Amino acid sequence: MTDSSDEKINSAVAAITDPHTGTSLGDGKSISEVTVTPTGLEIRLTLGYPANGWHDELKSLVRDAAAEAGYSGDVQVTIETKVVAHEVQKGVTPIKGVKNIIAVASGKGGVGKSTVSSNLALALAAEGAAAGILDADIYGPSQPRMLGISGRPQTSDGKTLEPMISYELQAMSIGFLIDEDTPMIWRGPMVTQALEQLLNDTQWRELDYLVIDLPPGTGDTQLTLAQKVPVSGAAIVTTPQDIALLDARKALKMFEKVEIPVLGVIENMSTHICSKCGHEEAIFGTGGGERMASEYGVDILGGIPLDIRIREDADGGRPTVVADPDGAVAGNYRSIARQVAGRLAARKRNYSEVFPSIVVQNT
Ligand SMILES: Nc1ncnc2c1ncn2[C@@H]1O[C@H](COP(=O)(O)OP(=O)(O)OP(=O)(O)O)[C@@H](O)[C@H]1O
Ligand SMILES: [Mg+2]
Ligand SMILES: [Zn+2]
Repeated sequence: MTDSSDEKINSAVAAITDPHTGTSLGDGKSISEVTVTPTGLEIRLTLGYPANGWHDELKSLVRDAAAEAGYSGDVQVTIETKVVAHEVQKGVTPIKGVKNIIAVASGKGGVGKSTVSSNLALALAAEGAAAGILDADIYGPSQPRMLGISGRPQTSDGKTLEPMISYELQAMSIGFLIDEDTPMIWRGPMVTQALEQLLNDTQWRELDYLVIDLPPGTGDTQLTLAQKVPVSGAAIVTTPQDIALLDARKALKMFEKVEIPVLGVIENMSTHICSKCGHEEAIFGTGGGERMASEYGVDILGGIPLDIRIREDADGGRPTVVADPDGAVAGNYRSIARQVAGRLAARKRNYSEVFPSIVVQNT
């Protein structure tokens, strides 16, 4: 093969657009190696986010590009994932054992934030990442029930907590430490303190992503959390109704204020799936999330239908992504997970752990 055809293949592959990062494979520095072997061509790609569910499609995109560039031999594509830590707000230090924290927030309560959080964390794991979840809803923790976890976390030193494990996820919730029917009457500062402890005193192990299910609303507690917790990016959950969208805008503003990048909006209950016949209907109207997205310049990460099975799965302690891993809804969540992680991958890296701070000593 001549050099010019080599280059032609290279630039054809480099021009493929990655729908999760919004950039081309070339600009995203995703092409690690192109090798000509006696039997054909070997192309090694490295993505900055997990994408198991996209690998087959990506491989055929690469093969098509090579064919269009005039290559007629055999093309072997291997895809690796390398997740790095991304920038967080100024002045907060990253958590040990956690590369990236993704905050899931909503302005309004009851829009399905906790359901989205657990399924998102599970979907990140299904895509190939080491994922965890922190239930930051001190007043009404939902993750123990949704993830089907009971019992108390272990401690090996009397100070730190081992995360609970459910379906490969590392999980922590105040719900593991208190009884479900103990009313929480803590005030703001105590809530923040309790959460900081839960986050910092858990022995998270090598997590690519820790999803935080934030308490609903945009009050002082949420604002303080957003200032103190080292978050790489936020996803906002809304339903399509105007009233929920109005509150979602408040969440957006809150993250702007504390300089946390909003990765996009997830529209929950965007359509209704009839449990009798399976037909899909936009009972809350259409285009709400899109209007908000265009008005504020944020992305839509995807939509989840209103489907009774999602509620049944979550109530039964086995979220849809693991209850029906090959179903359409799990596919939706996994696509959203790739959008979230892909958008994060396109952002600046955090070098604070790579380069130790330099101390100049006067001797
Ligand atoms: N897409 C969906 N289809 C059907 N039911 C859903 C869907 N999303 C969430 N639910 C159900 O709606 C209820 C509220 O969801 P969830 O607890 O996740 O909301 P939330 O925003 O976390 O609420 P809170 O503000 O109380 O924390 C739950 O019973 C859940 O199972
Ligand atoms: Mg909740
Ligand atoms: Zn019907």
